[in-house]
Amino acid sequence: MAILRTCTALACVAVAASARQLPLVADDSYNPAPSSPIVVSNGTSNGTVIDTKKLQADIDINKLVARAEALSKIADLSLSEYNHPTRVIGSQGHLGTVDYIYSELSKLGDYYNVTNQTFPAVSGNVFESRLVVGYEVPKSASPMSLTPPTKQHEPVYGKLLLVPNGGCSASDFSRNMTGHIALIKRGTCSFGDKSANAGKAGADAAIIYNNDNSTLSGTLGSPSPYHIATFGVSAAEAAPWVAALQNGTTGLDAIAYIDSTVDEIMTTNVIAQTTAGDPENCVMLGGHSDSVAAGPGINDDGSGTISLLEIATQLTKYEVNNCVRFGWWAGEEEGLLGSTYYAEQLSAAENQKIRLFMDYDASPLIPNGVFQIYNSTNGQNPAGSGELRVLYEDWYKEQGLNYTYIVFDGRSDYVGFLDAGIPSGGIATGAEGIKTKEEASIFGGEAGSQYDPCYHELCDDIHNLDLTEWEANTKLIAHSVATYAKSFDGFPKRVAAVEERSLSGSKKSTPQFKYRGNELIM
Ligand SMILES: *[C@@H]1O[C@H](CO)[C@@H](O)[C@H](O)[C@H]1NC(C)=O
Ligand SMILES: *[C@@H]1O[C@H](CO)[C@@H](O)[C@H](O)[C@H]1NC(C)=O
Ligand SMILES: *[C@@H]1O[C@H](CO)[C@@H](O)[C@H](O)[C@H]1NC(C)=O
Ligand SMILES: *[C@@H]1O[C@H](CO)[C@@H](O)[C@H](O)[C@H]1NC(C)=O
Ligand SMILES: *[C@@H]1O[C@H](CO)[C@@H](O)[C@H](O)[C@H]1NC(C)=O
Ligand SMILES: *[C@@H]1O[C@H](CO)[C@@H](O)[C@H](O)[C@H]1NC(C)=O
Ligand SMILES: *[C@@H]1O[C@H](CO)[C@@H](O)[C@H](O)[C@H]1NC(C)=O
Ligand SMILES: *[C@@H]1O[C@H](CO)[C@@H](O)[C@H](O)[C@H]1NC(C)=O
Ligand SMILES: *[C@@H]1O[C@H](CO)[C@@H](O)[C@H](O)[C@H]1NC(C)=O
Ligand SMILES: [Zn+2]
Repeated sequence: MAILRTCTALACVAVAASARQLPLVADDSYNPAPSSPIVVSNGTSNGTVIDTKKLQADIDINKLVARAEALSKIADLSLSEYNHPTRVIGSQGHLGTVDYIYSELSKLGDYYNVTNQTFPAVSGNVFESRLVVGYEVPKSASPMSLTPPTKQHEPVYGKLLLVPNGGCSASDFSRNMTGHIALIKRGTCSFGDKSANAGKAGADAAIIYNNDNSTLSGTLGSPSPYHIATFGVSAAEAAPWVAALQNGTTGLDAIAYIDSTVDEIMTTNVIAQTTAGDPENCVMLGGHSDSVAAGPGINDDGSGTISLLEIATQLTKYEVNNCVRFGWWAGEEEGLLGSTYYAEQLSAAENQKIRLFMDYDASPLIPNGVFQIYNSTNGQNPAGSGELRVLYEDWYKEQGLNYTYIVFDGRSDYVGFLDAGIPSGGIATGAEGIKTKEEASIFGGEAGSQYDPCYHELCDDIHNLDLTEWEANTKLIAHSVATYAKSFDGFPKRVAAVEERSLSGSKKSTPQFKYRGNELIM
């Protein structure tokens, strides 16, 4: 996320102090030496074959909470630079998170082969922005993430020019836009393409207006040298400008100002694979190790990071039949960077070894959350995605828990895997969406309020966890690992058409999803 939020030193201290008063665990910080004996196997296990009931029984909420406390302290490593805790890529808090994951896994002997995957990522910050059209300051104006600044980080003045046909092709820019500000309708192609096309035509800035009544806050995605400073505005606020320009008005002056940076940095995924189990048939699962800049991300996705780490630890008690591979992705919040990089780097042979990918992004139910299953179906997604959905349904039913479906729309790390032809699915808990009356009746909580009021905020701290539900979802994750580590019976074989999908077919010029991570891309 691009908006850098700061807090006063005082407010940050208050947050850090209140986290320490949590009555959830015994006084001390996370103690790396586990209190109950954990048999660390070196891949020649003690003979106990993986069993879902046993692995689920090994999930202890106190161990999850102890790890959440450790992660909170790690997020505080960013205080000197950000004035508040964060684990955004490039921060000390994120470097500390990667170190923590790596060192915890290293304690597990050679049960796992642990590797780092370092890759280039983009990181953007918008420090200040302003848009004026005519005499109005549009309230809905919001700079796109990963937008470059206006020239010299100074305001630019120009006439607003309406771009015909949505600005997806060079021929929409027959007018010389030099010294002007392009007004472009949302739709058909990505915001990044529109911005680059306007930039090529010489525009100083671009305004993309919405084609529905929602707010328009998106990202330009992968940087291009042609991108220009770009805002999103609502359809309602743009309507009078569009009408005036369509009517031949030439006098609509505008001022655009964005002070921002877009930097390329190196960041790291951590991958751990069991040394035992059939290496040709792996169950893979992942969560993202980073947070947004605005806060410590203890739920999003500290919780998923921790659930995976704890399951990886408990799994060492057992013998697996199939290989289990864990991934902790960096740069999810900047547009699913780590998981996409990982999936794209797989050779055709390596790709085939991954039978499925399970995405665990923010698994605990936040206080007003819901149990959601990605609506991963077989027709639209690689075969196996549907079977995985059924595994989650069956588990919630068995526990007597209600669940709903959430659209599989590109908002988390499964995208790169789907694009690579790998069956995928996962669970979620609601994020920034608004709870409906029906959901309140089956899950409790408050209708009309955000599921997670702390989504991508400073308050996504250790208090933003519902422990009962976190434990439940972690047991479900354990169940998914144990099931496939034991057997892929009845689970569809990978199809060899992957190359086809990933090398030609699915590399469409228009993106498959409206989202890439938490932000709209088109
Ligand atoms: C793994 O542990 C077993 C039992 O402790 C030991 O006999 C064996 O030599 C170890 N194998 C390796 C590769 O370290
Ligand atoms: C992997 O990254 C961790 C955490 O940053 C680091 O401690 C470790 O040395 C790295 N390992 C390798 C093999 O590069
Ligand atoms: C560990 O994994 C890496 C990356 O997949 C691989 O190159 C390496 O050969 C593996 N090492 C062992 C001992 O299996
Ligand atoms: C566009 O207009 C600018 C300024 O009026 C001028 O310098 C430039 O040459 C024009 N470009 C084209 C391609 O006509
Ligand atoms: C948007 O809102 C306006 C009035 O507020 C309404 O007339 C219109 O139908 C809405 N459009 C959509 C797509 O919801
Ligand atoms: C369009 O132009 C006509 C004629 O100049 C004018 O009467 C009308 O008010 C204009 N409409 C808008 C929306 O500017
Ligand atoms: C293997 O380890 C598990 C988990 O710690 C334990 O319950 C079981 O008794 C052990 N089995 C043997 C044969 O040592
Ligand atoms: C799930 O997806 C399928 C196929 O894309 C669709 O037909 C179905 O209506 C969706 N179900 C829900 C509950 O969203
Ligand atoms: C599930 O939803 C029903 C209403 O459809 C409700 O009566 C029940 O209490 C809910 N179960 C749980 C465990 O929340
Ligand atoms: Zn997330």
